[in-house]
Amino acid sequence: MSAIAREAGALLLPYFHQGLKIEYKGDADLVTAADRASETLIRERITKQFPSHDVLGEEQGLNDQGGEYRWYVDPLDGTTNFAHGYPVFCVSVALEYRGADQAKRIAGVVYDPTRDELFTAEQGRGAQLNGKPIRVSKARELKECLVATGFPSHKRHKNPNIHFYHQITLRTHGVRRAGSAALDLCNVASGRFDGFWEFNLNPWDTAAGVLIIEEAGGKVSRFDGSPFELDSRETLASNGLVHDALLHEFEEIFAGRGLSPLPDPKEYNGKN
Ligand code: IPD
Ligand code: CA
Ligand code: CA
Repeated sequence: MSAIAREAGALLLPYFHQGLKIEYKGDADLVTAADRASETLIRERITKQFPSHDVLGEEQGLNDQGGEYRWYVDPLDGTTNFAHGYPVFCVSVALEYRGADQAKRIAGVVYDPTRDELFTAEQGRGAQLNGKPIRVSKARELKECLVATGFPSHKRHKNPNIHFYHQITLRTHGVRRAGSAALDLCNVASGRFDGFWEFNLNPWDTAAGVLIIEEAGGKVSRFDGSPFELDSRETLASNGLVHDALLHEFEEIFAGRGLSPLPDPKEYNGKN
């Protein structure tokens, strides 16, 4: 998996440096020739070695062989950054075992070719960055946390996240919106961020990063604390220590309690 992700990352770089024609899937949902070429390469590599495995990829959909193993492929996570020349993007690949009663994520790899950072995890065997073990942070209180979120590239008018962004910014060291959910999750796993949340992510965005966080000692759930599933459409991740505090904030914000109002213009225009 690592070799495949590295190869796809290497394929993306020349496209990134030469600049690309952007196409649109929705009003702000971009896709480029690089997304497609990367997915084609990853699918070829998987199918050659594991012809009976299913593959679900963002650009080409599900190739369902009815197999016990399913791969989740985001050939380029952070396409908007990529298309604008902002160097925050990655390749995300995960493998799930689909047993009779339960599906289990068993391995995940996220590769950031601009930093040559390869995040890896295998179920029960910990998580690594470039081969060295990683752990989530030790922050215990929200007020000492740096967290991250993201916004979807379509149906943004239906997404409530700006309200969460506002409130959680006021209660932490800040909220980053870097533009690659898979890297955001890996940055929680390696302790750079203490938490992350996003509405409406797809399985190919989260499959690898969630396992990498869990193997690094962190926690991932839905917004009400119930177990995360790949089709949950709600992702709340943390170092585990601040999970309950984040869940509490979500409960309060959903209920409309304790919301900080916008300041009066006199206040924000004032010199003090
Ligand atoms: C997007 C990125 C972004 C997140 C969006 C995703 P894409 O994936 O992960 O950070 O906020 O929700 O759709 O489209 O670049 O693969
Ligand atoms: Ca994505
Ligand atoms: Ca993508």
